[in-house]
Amino acid sequence: MPEAMIEFREVSKAYGASIAVDRLSLDVPRGQITVFVGPSGCGKTTSLRMVNRMVEPTSGTILVDGRDVSTLPAARLRRSMGYVLQAAGLMPHRTVVDNIATVPRLNGVSRRQARARAHELLDVVGLSQGLADRYPAQLSGGQQQRVGVARALAADPPILLMDEPFSAVDPVVRQELQRELLRLQQDLGKTIVFVTHDIDEAVLLGDRIAVFAVGGRLAQVADPEELLRAPADEFVAGFVGRDRGFRHLGFYDDGGLSLDETPTVALSQLGAMAPAEWTVILDGAGRPAGWASPVSPGTVVTGGSLHRAGGTLRSALDSALSSPSGRGVVVDDDGRFLGTVAATAVLAAAERRRAAVPEEA
Ligand SMILES: Nc1ncnc2c1ncn2[C@@H]1O[C@H](COP(=O)(O)OP(=O)(O)OP(=O)(O)O)[C@@H](O)[C@H]1O
Ligand SMILES: [Mg+2]
Repeated sequence: MPEAMIEFREVSKAYGASIAVDRLSLDVPRGQITVFVGPSGCGKTTSLRMVNRMVEPTSGTILVDGRDVSTLPAARLRRSMGYVLQAAGLMPHRTVVDNIATVPRLNGVSRRQARARAHELLDVVGLSQGLADRYPAQLSGGQQQRVGVARALAADPPILLMDEPFSAVDPVVRQELQRELLRLQQDLGKTIVFVTHDIDEAVLLGDRIAVFAVGGRLAQVADPEELLRAPADEFVAGFVGRDRGFRHLGFYDDGGLSLDETPTVALSQLGAMAPAEWTVILDGAGRPAGWASPVSPGTVVTGGSLHRAGGTLRSALDSALSSPSGRGVVVDDDGRFLGTVAATAVLAAAERRRAAVPEEA
């Protein structure tokens, strides 16, 4: 069993004189999420579609599970992989269950069985059974995308090809769908190729990230941590963006970050208190409710993100920087107050981690 589920070997695609994909060589590991990211027109969709032969390469070879796809019947190849599109690509005149049951039906599964499986898949992707007999136009964008994912999973294919599946929904729904996909993937362990424009989405979802540059050139393949830490060239550095140093802190846990003791006051005692310094106000359960400020006694100053102990240095730094007192509030898993942390302490911890990571040769 080859370790790479999909192998691109010197694959090119030309449309007339213009090169959409330029000698792409890339291994897509089995059971992982590989993200194709890059600016518009750089050949991500074309590369994806050559895997299931919706597009034929001009030259080069693509192997799936060790077999040259050009030797496999295109229609069967297509049905053997799940495919999810940006606009979900649902059939408008078919109900949700019938949409989900499409590929199993084409594979010869009985209507009853295919529909029973479709109903199970509604649960898997977090849709209520009440939606089963609706038509796509009667669903929200996020619901349509979930149906799209369910349909791609229906025949239980080992490979899922996903082309900007979450880009047409609002940021909140998108975040939900991303979390769902990660949760699903923990159980399913599919080989997923996921296309996006969005470097944050790539970093969140990808086990590996392939960055494409204009002209269909592969600029870098790396895991997310390495990509942010060591972009291969100017193009990748520009693409992964200005905040990459800050985002990179998301790869460091907060181990070794020591908490400072900070004065606290019970919410019920607040009225009687004239704080000499910033003081954390705790509710009856020991959870932070805000800050008491030395300059405006008796008021609850809110704002500032909470940092959950065990989280990342990114969240610790955000908590310090967003806090009205300049000190990040650290809580346990139940949301109870543990202590505070200063931005400088987080930066010192980041510096220790950085120094401990050997430079790439
Ligand atoms: N059928 C086609 N005929 C001619 N040119 C095409 C065809 N399909 C794609 N192209 C060109 O190939 C290049 C790569 O297109 P592709 O759709 O793969 O880009 P992409 O990275 O997916 O872009 P986007 O992020 O906008 O979806 C583009 O310049 C595009 O115009
Ligand atoms: Mg595209």
